[in-house]
Amino acid sequence: MASSKTFSLVLPILLMNCFALLGQCSRPHNSKEREDLVTAACKHTLHFQVCISSLRSVPGSSKASDLKVLAEIALNLSTAYAADTLSYIYKLQSSSSSSANGSNNIRVSRCLSDCVEEYSEAIENLHDSKQALANGDCDQVDMLVSAAMSDAETCEDGFKDMQSEDSDSISPLTEHNLYFSELCSNALAITKLLV
Ligand SMILES: *[C@@H]1O[C@H](CO)[C@@H](O)[C@H](O)[C@H]1NC(C)=O
Ligand SMILES: *[C@@H]1O[C@H](CO)[C@@H](O)[C@H](O)[C@H]1NC(C)=O
Repeated sequence: MASSKTFSLVLPILLMNCFALLGQCSRPHNSKEREDLVTAACKHTLHFQVCISSLRSVPGSSKASDLKVLAEIALNLSTAYAADTLSYIYKLQSSSSSSANGSNNIRVSRCLSDCVEEYSEAIENLHDSKQALANGDCDQVDMLVSAAMSDAETCEDGFKDMQSEDSDSISPLTEHNLYFSELCSNALAITKLLV
């Protein structure tokens, strides 16, 4: 008979209901207001506090009624931070070239030039990822944002290599690189919720 076929159709619906019920149960009973979309989305990220504070800094986020808008805001935040980092690198370049400090200085400026390239590429990747999001191509978003993250990693690795030769030189970009990858990681996690 058709019973097994019926079952295979009904099972997914049963499962979906189970998940919906679980979702309800995991909410605290005493919370007066319903959890907002930003908090709900950020719970799925690896860097919850960064997610909350960065998204809340954008006025539109509290009114966002769907995840796709939040994903776009998250990508915008990553792009803006990459642009900030790029101008910070330019500033470092001009201050390090004004003081000639021998071979170490040459190595530092080589690293900084590499980072200019990496971050320019990251910005391009993130611009493309917004287009991909608009097209509903989440796999492409994933690929491009991951590429942007590894651009920042390559920037940081340049300084690590330098440090292995000269332990006195530390990366002036570690904090920027870290925060940037956290923003990207959060954007990836929010995009994954759309799939
Ligand atoms: C993302 O940034 C673009 C370009 O700056 C802007 O036009 C758009 O409104 C932003 N998206 C959201 C959801 O804030
Ligand atoms: C250049 O070297 C001098 C002496 O080692 C040091 O005091 C100074 O801070 C260095 N400047 C930069 C920009 O690293």
